[in-house]
Amino acid sequence: MCKDMLDFEKILNLPSPLEPLSDPMYVEKSLKVFVKRDDLIHPQISGNKWRKLKFNLIEAEKQGYHKLITFGGAHSNHLYAVAAIGRYFGFETTGIIRGDELNSYSSITLQYAHECGMQLQFVSRQAYKDKNQLLGIYRKDDQYVLPEGGTNTLSLAGVGEMVQEIRQQLGYDPDYIICPVGTGGTIAGILSAVSAKTTVVGVCVLKNANYLENEITTLLQSGADNYSENYRIFWEFHHRGYAKKTPQLMSFIEAFNEKNGFSVEPVYSGKMFYAFDELVKNEIRDNSTIVLIHTGGLR
Ligand SMILES: Cc1ncc(COP(=O)(O)O)c(C=O)c1O
Repeated sequence: MCKDMLDFEKILNLPSPLEPLSDPMYVEKSLKVFVKRDDLIHPQISGNKWRKLKFNLIEAEKQGYHKLITFGGAHSNHLYAVAAIGRYFGFETTGIIRGDELNSYSSITLQYAHECGMQLQFVSRQAYKDKNQLLGIYRKDDQYVLPEGGTNTLSLAGVGEMVQEIRQQLGYDPDYIICPVGTGGTIAGILSAVSAKTTVVGVCVLKNANYLENEITTLLQSGADNYSENYRIFWEFHHRGYAKKTPQLMSFIEAFNEKNGFSVEPVYSGKMFYAFDELVKNEIRDNSTIVLIHTGGLR
């Protein structure tokens, strides 16, 4: 039996803290800068993972499912969170893993998933591309499907709750909300809940990913009653591509982590804060309030 989800939410750190960030440049430009610490929601189910999965889990329960099936790579934050959800909520979980050369001990993520009792199904990188075919082969009728990265129309409302928290914590709508963009689910969720006054800025962490613009529009059109179109994605801060790192990024992160007393990782939030450091110089209006979303991430 699944444990009561709303009871479980009581042990999550919600609303997540909104913390000020300081820098001499912000003072010079009269900026109020805050970090929404979604990374502190829960040690294993942190950041945008809880936000994107919450209403998917409620739907699974509503439909009477006690088993979940999903997808991910050996280092997937989503897979890690789903494995933890399985453990804490009492769902049985299956993960379809990209890479048939991998095993349950190939990465910390896979080891943890295995420890949580997730059934791991390794498939070739080629086979992984066709998710529908994989579901045809591996999904059992009693398994609820969570999409890769947790992004679907049900994920928008959970991310929208984060925007409501920001509004309550600040007492007004910020001029900017900034987030990393991977599949586009998080930025779409933010757009489904902000007022048009807030410019939403996405920092894409993938190379050559302009197709995401259409996917974000499709998500919003199919999953949100209303949404803002006041957004802009910056594509040039991927640092050679998904999960790739440049020396500039790594030295920025080292200095950032030391200065601010909390950590960002190089795959998502590190690239966002790096980009913000650049954007502050000429894209962000003086006298603005800015909220950057720390979406969690393991390493
Ligand atoms: C830690 C973290 N931050 C940001 C993102 C990007 O979010 P989205 O895929 O919703 O664009 C992801 C991927 O889901 C992630 O794991």
